[in-house]
Amino acid sequence: MLRRQSMFRPTALAAAALALVTLLAGCERPPVDSVQRGYRGTSMIQVYNPRIVTPQTYENVVPDAIPAAPSDGPRARTVYKNVQVLGDLSVAEFNRLMVAISAWVAPNEQCTYCHKPGEGFESDSLYTKVVARRMLQMTQTINTKWNAHVGDTGVTCYTCHRGQHQPRETWFRAPEHRQFTRLIGYNADQNIAAPNVTYASLPFDALTEYLLKGQEIRVNGTTALPTGNRQSIKQAEFTYSLMVHMSDGLGVNCTYCHNTQNFGKWEGSPPQRVTAWHGIRMARAMNVSYMEPLRNVFPASERGPTGDVAKVNCATCHQGAYKPLYGASMLKDYPELGRSTSAVAVAAPPAGGAAKK
Ligand code: HEC
Ligand code: HEC
Ligand code: HEC
Ligand code: HEC
Repeated sequence: MLRRQSMFRPTALAAAALALVTLLAGCERPPVDSVQRGYRGTSMIQVYNPRIVTPQTYENVVPDAIPAAPSDGPRARTVYKNVQVLGDLSVAEFNRLMVAISAWVAPNEQCTYCHKPGEGFESDSLYTKVVARRMLQMTQTINTKWNAHVGDTGVTCYTCHRGQHQPRETWFRAPEHRQFTRLIGYNADQNIAAPNVTYASLPFDALTEYLLKGQEIRVNGTTALPTGNRQSIKQAEFTYSLMVHMSDGLGVNCTYCHNTQNFGKWEGSPPQRVTAWHGIRMARAMNVSYMEPLRNVFPASERGPTGDVAKVNCATCHQGAYKPLYGASMLKDYPELGRSTSAVAVAAPPAGGAAKK
């Protein structure tokens, strides 16, 4: 009896109210909009916060395209000295693209961000130019080989860069956290607030497992007994880390891709899940074939805590929108980024390039 009374003491009430306020401070303020996305009764509802969507609409406006350039006349490879990727373009098309990438990646420095003043344009002395050449190939690969994900909409440098040298949303490998004493125990890479996993208590280096290594994304076992396909709690936690990253990166909730009655089942999942499946493989391929091999080209100052280069994840392109730039295609105005323009496959560049200006 006494105990019960003490629970309703004003101080206890105040403390409870404070705890509630603190707890809810991380939540989004109502009202929210919800849109039905599945059959009636499946509770497949997409929740949008208009206070997040409205400013995002302004961030996703695409810049005007530069008027098209004539495609006739001599080819860039015959006129210039060191053109390895864009050789098929006419000189006019080539220069138009140089102006465009300056605006997309280095609007303040323009040409000098990749071409050192006083040296010829053919010089590769700045690392930014060496990276940009590889980026041209990466963009062409995305647009020609990954249509299962990017469709005809495709991407340009602007999709990721948005007028900045380095895309806003990238990730590095997390340094290993050593187990200092047996008394505290191993943290299993968890409970360290990391933006990749939306600050949840989930494994913070999960992107390495899926967007670099190709670990299986599974929670449900496929057989009744744990035979060949052991699914551990740890794997489940890694899977959830990726899922919260994907949801956050696209600004959607789980029902955008799942009928949550059964997360593993493909029947009944919206078609977006298939697009996402290809997206996971595409992001991994970009990191393995393009970003990681640039490790020695980037100066140490631009690399992560373990010495790796910044890598691509869902948010690098999507930046919080279900489709990057809400589905607007800039590629249609820059068709040279939608085909392979180099006759020979150019291998990963050697280490080199000057330090950052
Ligand atoms: C973001 C980096 C970047 C910016 C900014 C940039 N370029 Fe380039 N530029 C390159 C790359 C990469 C190549 C090589 C392309 C290839 O190998 O196909 C190149 C090659 C050239 C070449 C050919 C030189 C030769 O003889 O081989 C010229 C000319 C050129 N750029 C002019 C410009 C001009 C003018 C500007 C500013 C309007 C500019 N570039 C802005 C990256 C850049
Ligand atoms: C899929 C996303 C994506 C696309 C598309 C893309 N980039 Fe990048 N770019 C990156 C990432 C990731 C980095 C590494 C950023 C970092 O180091 O923080 C990068 C770095 C760069 C850098 C080095 C910048 C610096 O200051 O270190 C240059 C230059 C560059 N990109 C040019 C381009 C050009 C030109 C294009 C278009 C032909 C392009 N990028 C297309 C993702 C992209
Ligand atoms: C953008 C689409 C997308 C969103 C959003 C998404 N998922 Fe997924 N999910 C997938 C795809 C694709 C797979 C299968 C991945 C594979 O097999 O490579 C998957 C797999 C899973 C699995 C593993 C199922 C199995 O076979 O064991 C679980 C569990 C899961 N998701 C839970 C979630 C949760 C919880 C959320 C919300 C926090 C979520 N997903 C949000 C696309 C999505
Ligand atoms: C290189 C840029 C890029 C990256 C990286 C990327 N996407 Fe996409 N994604 C796109 C483009 C472009 C579209 C629009 C395709 C279209 O219009 O048909 C798209 C469309 C989608 C769609 C379909 C949306 C709809 O409503 O139809 C889903 C789902 C999606 N992406 C999920 C992901 C996930 C999950 C990841 C990370 C694993 C990812 N994407 C990484 C560029 C990217």
